[in-house]
Amino acid sequence: MPETLTITDNRTGKSYDIPITDGAIKATDLKQIKAGQDDGGLATYDPAFMNTAACRSRITFIDGDKGVLEYRGYPIEQLAEKSTYLETAYLVIFGELPTATQLQQWTREITFHTMLHENIKKLMEAFQYDAHPMGVFLSTVGAFSTFYPDAKKIFDEKSRKKQIHRLIAKVPTIAAYAYRHSIGRPYVYPDNDLSFTGNFLNMLFKMTELKYHPNPVLERALDVLFILHADHEQNCSTSTMRVIGSSQPDPYSAMAGAAAALYGPLHGGANEAVLRMLNEVGSVANVPAFIKRVKGGEGRLMGFGHRVYKSYDPRAKIIKQTADEVFEVTGKNPLLEIALELERIALQDEYFVSRKLYPNVDFYSGLIYQAMGFPVEMFPVLFAIPRTSGWIAQWEEMLLDPEQKIARPKQIYTGAAKRDYVSLSARK
Ligand code: CMC
Repeated sequence: MPETLTITDNRTGKSYDIPITDGAIKATDLKQIKAGQDDGGLATYDPAFMNTAACRSRITFIDGDKGVLEYRGYPIEQLAEKSTYLETAYLVIFGELPTATQLQQWTREITFHTMLHENIKKLMEAFQYDAHPMGVFLSTVGAFSTFYPDAKKIFDEKSRKKQIHRLIAKVPTIAAYAYRHSIGRPYVYPDNDLSFTGNFLNMLFKMTELKYHPNPVLERALDVLFILHADHEQNCSTSTMRVIGSSQPDPYSAMAGAAAALYGPLHGGANEAVLRMLNEVGSVANVPAFIKRVKGGEGRLMGFGHRVYKSYDPRAKIIKQTADEVFEVTGKNPLLEIALELERIALQDEYFVSRKLYPNVDFYSGLIYQAMGFPVEMFPVLFAIPRTSGWIAQWEEMLLDPEQKIARPKQIYTGAAKRDYVSLSARK
């Protein structure tokens, strides 16, 4: 017997058996229940999608109460310890860990797609010197759509794969160029001898030396941060990727939108906001007063709270360990003491405890990025690079899902009733 939910309509006395599948009822099954005269049936109202599943997905599993995060079934802790970002990206996109040959091929493909078309370089030069790198990043990703018209063949598997290689490989180059542009330094071409993150550091920080040698601890730390950010199921930017993708444009256009969604301070811009907040707090002595202001409704404790995690974000735990390794090399970030004190006080405070507000992935990541030499404006870009793998995986899953159609939410109209046009001279 399939599980059902029985709904009795008190107005008519009629009962409806609504099937429950995978812990959900289909919102369209409610349409058979009349909502009023001449209506299209009962709808659900769910601003911000607080309790609405918009897809089935095999990519990422989160248990927010237990603090569990898995990519394709593999716990994030194991991936962060044993995998590399490129291997994890392969897993997220293709569903399985690669064999040695597959990994070699994948690494080769990515390495050979890292260069940008010279015209893209010129396009990036047109941005103002103080343009926010995230604005440059998302605009350039959108412009890719004009450079690779073959990307429109979204139902051609071969074409899709090519765009996947291009996207994963080129996002670090765009990010590095955006950074070099902002500080007025010449662009550094990719170095194919280096690892994915080693090459990224090379494109960011190489000066006049003939060969750039990344610090192995920092290279690994960045790789771990990239693993942690690869995917996070149906968050704001990923949902944007799916929604834009559902009208079937090329993936670059969809990803420009996803990156724009990531830019906001409540999402990928939060790590930037955390650093600004720590600077504003200024010293450990000011922490209690700052917490008081947050509790009084004057702003938020950035890097705290999550729509899904109602316990410690498992990524934040790993990042805290990574921070120690990075600070061994770079020296301690002076803002760390303030962050630790904020966390200590908040985790004991009834306001944060009762609302289940814990540090999220962004609370400590900014401190590491800053210690590694990144300016705060680069933080959301550092989130976008690895999230590209999640966006692509989710986009492809959506395209190939026969249950998906063009996204089009309903609304509840609360505006004026029909009325006649009033000529300008007659308006009061
Ligand atoms: N500081 C103070 N109060 C908070 C915070 C915070 N960081 N986050 C939530 N609250 C309060 C909020 O005021 C509300 O209180 P009340 O019930 O009295 O009105 C309650 O907690 C529930 O908050 P909400 O806004 O309804 O929760 P949400 O699920 O809509 O928001 C969030 C989730 C992440 C946007 C929010 O916690 C937030 O703004 N955090 C700070 C920004 C941040 O760190 N964002 C990064 C998220 S993790 C990276 C990513 O995946 O993008």
